[in-house]
Amino acid sequence: MKGVILAGGSGTRLYPITYGINKHFLPIYNKPMIYYPLSVLMLMKIREVIFVANREDIPLFKKFFGDGSDLGMKISYTVQEEPRGLAHALLCAEEFAKGDSICLILGDNIFFGHGLPEVLISAKEEVEKNGGAFVFGYYVNDPERYGIIEFDSSGRVISIEEKPKNPKSNFAVVGLYIYDSTVFEKAKKVEPSWRGELEITSVNNQYLKEGKLKVKLLGRGFAWFDAGTYDSFLEAGEFVATIEKKTGLMIGCIEEISFKNKWIDRKKLEEIAKKLEKTDYGKYLRKILDESE
Ligand code: DAU
Repeated sequence: MKGVILAGGSGTRLYPITYGINKHFLPIYNKPMIYYPLSVLMLMKIREVIFVANREDIPLFKKFFGDGSDLGMKISYTVQEEPRGLAHALLCAEEFAKGDSICLILGDNIFFGHGLPEVLISAKEEVEKNGGAFVFGYYVNDPERYGIIEFDSSGRVISIEEKPKNPKSNFAVVGLYIYDSTVFEKAKKVEPSWRGELEITSVNNQYLKEGKLKVKLLGRGFAWFDAGTYDSFLEAGEFVATIEKKTGLMIGCIEEISFKNKWIDRKKLEEIAKKLEKTDYGKYLRKILDESE
């Protein structure tokens, strides 16, 4: 399975902050936002990843991640010429997928929870083995902002509605989707929605119609943020700061995950830690090295 990170879009909901700065590099406490979704793919042991971004932002992504070798990964980039929606952005990665299954993750989504990697890896294995798609639901207080799941009286999923005016439940579909290789055919069939976007929800509804959509609800033990508004952005940063200060462990530290996955060796991590030695981030990497001796 390969990973696709969507990091294009117009960022208008964070204006004026994002007039001149790409939203995905804004800090969520002590790391750029984009580290968090990348770290989730890494925790799922997905080693080959593509970023979909606006043309003018690609150099910035390359500056951070290069070809991925510093993380022991293979990272590439592709341009989405216009922010026409998530299904459109996904289509930009068709050539990259080369018929493989994919995990699609949104560049502004932040996940945290005990046992999350295990849950995601088992969903990944399910799609690799049996095909279809896997999505996750999360209870929210502001359902108008998301793709919302409708259930029948026996709890079966009957549809997903994008940003409903009259939400049929409080369960939002989070921005992490696992798809078999038919996803691109499905994305090509999507028509623009009332807001003029090619919605990922239409792709999910096609899987649902075919009886091939698995939905797992993430319970209270998980935290999920879509950091696309001022408030959710701030909340995500406060959450990360609180957890990190309490536990002394970082959320979304990509170098740590890479080292623990054995994708990079001690020498590489030492090199990175040295470059960052004046920062708490560098000191944390040093601590990881010391503890692994
Ligand atoms: O966060 C979960 C929600 O994400 C889901 O519940 C919704 O069903 C889904 O449509 C999506 O809604 P958003 O309104 O939050 O999506 P947004 O426009 O904020 O885009 C999410 C990310 O995708 C963001 O990091 C930018 C990137 N993006 C967005 C668009 C529209 C692209 O790369 N290309 C695009 O064309």
